[in-house]
Amino acid sequence: MNADSSTNKSVATLYDQLSRFMVWQNYFQFCRRITSLTIHKTLHIPPGIKNLYDKKNQGEYINDVVLQSALPGDYPIVLDAGCGFGSTIFRWYSKKPGKYVGYSLSPFQVDKARREAARRGISSHCQFFLKSYDDPIAEKYQYIIAIESLIHANDLQQAVTNLVQALLPGGKLIIVDDMAETDLESDDPDLVLLKKSWSLNRLRIQKQYSAAFKTNHLKLTEQRDFTGQVRVSREKKLKRKKAILQFLLKVMPFNDIRFIVDAYLGGFALEELYRRKKVNYILMVGQK
Ligand SMILES: C[S@@+](CC[C@H](N)C(=O)[O-])C[C@H]1O[C@@H](n2cnc3c(N)ncnc32)[C@H](O)[C@@H]1O
Repeated sequence: MNADSSTNKSVATLYDQLSRFMVWQNYFQFCRRITSLTIHKTLHIPPGIKNLYDKKNQGEYINDVVLQSALPGDYPIVLDAGCGFGSTIFRWYSKKPGKYVGYSLSPFQVDKARREAARRGISSHCQFFLKSYDDPIAEKYQYIIAIESLIHANDLQQAVTNLVQALLPGGKLIIVDDMAETDLESDDPDLVLLKKSWSLNRLRIQKQYSAAFKTNHLKLTEQRDFTGQVRVSREKKLKRKKAILQFLLKVMPFNDIRFIVDAYLGGFALEELYRRKKVNYILMVGQK
C-alpha cells in the first residue's frame, strides 16, 4: 500500500466513524434519523437573511452561497468532489434540477446519500460513488464543487489537475476550505493535533490553492473570505472543552468512542487556530 492509499483509508475511517456518530447525534438531538446532511462548518448567517434559515438547516447557508457563485443555468451537470451525505447536491437539486454526481471516500456516507436520493425519488438524477477525486474521471462536468474536502488532498496540484480535466470548457471549480494564513510552525501544538486527528498531511496556505488554479489555467473569477462568520468559542471555553476531551481520551476504554473524541479534538484544534487568526475560511471560484 502506498502512502496515498493509506491516507485515503484513514480519511475514509475518519468520515465513516464521524458520520455514524452524527446520525445518532441528530437522532437524539432532533428525534429524526437524519436531520442535517451537512458535514461542514455552520457559519454565522448575515442578519439580513437569517430568517431564511432555522436551527436545523443553518448548514445549508454555505451550499446556497456556492450555488449563487456558480449561477448554474438550466439542468446543470455537477460533480461534488467530497460530497459527505450529499447535502450540497440535495440542496442544489431542490433549486436547480440537473444531473448530479457525488464522490466520497466513506462507504457509510455513500450508502446514506444513495438512500436519501432514493427516499426523495431522485436516484437517477443524483448519484453517489465511493471514489476518490484523485482517480481518473471519464465524464465531463459544468460545475465541480469541493466544500471542505480538498484539505484532505495528498497532492493538491494533482487533485486540482484531475478535477480540471473533468471540467467542460467554461466550467467552474468552486472550492471552500480552511486555509492557513501563513505557513505555521510545524510544531505548532494546534496544527500537530489537527493533522494527527484528521489524518492531514499539511494545512495549506491560500497561495497554494491559487498556484494550483494558475498551473491548471483556471481563471480566478471570485474569491471570498468567510472567516469572520466562522463560529469560534472564547479562549477559556475552548480550553475547557479541549481539556475534557483530552481527559476522556485518556480514560475511555472503547476504541470507537476514543476515535470520535479524537476527531472532535481535531475540530477544537482547528477552532483554536481560527481563534488565533491563523486560518481563514475561503471560497474560490476558478473558470476553465
Ligand atoms: C468535511 S466533509 C465535507 C462533506 C461535504 N462537502 C459537505 O459539505 O457536507 C469532507 C468530505 O471529503 C471527502 N473526501 C476527502 N478526501 C477525498 C478524496 N480523496 N476523494 C473523495 N472524497 C474525499 C470525505 O469522504 C468527506 O465526504
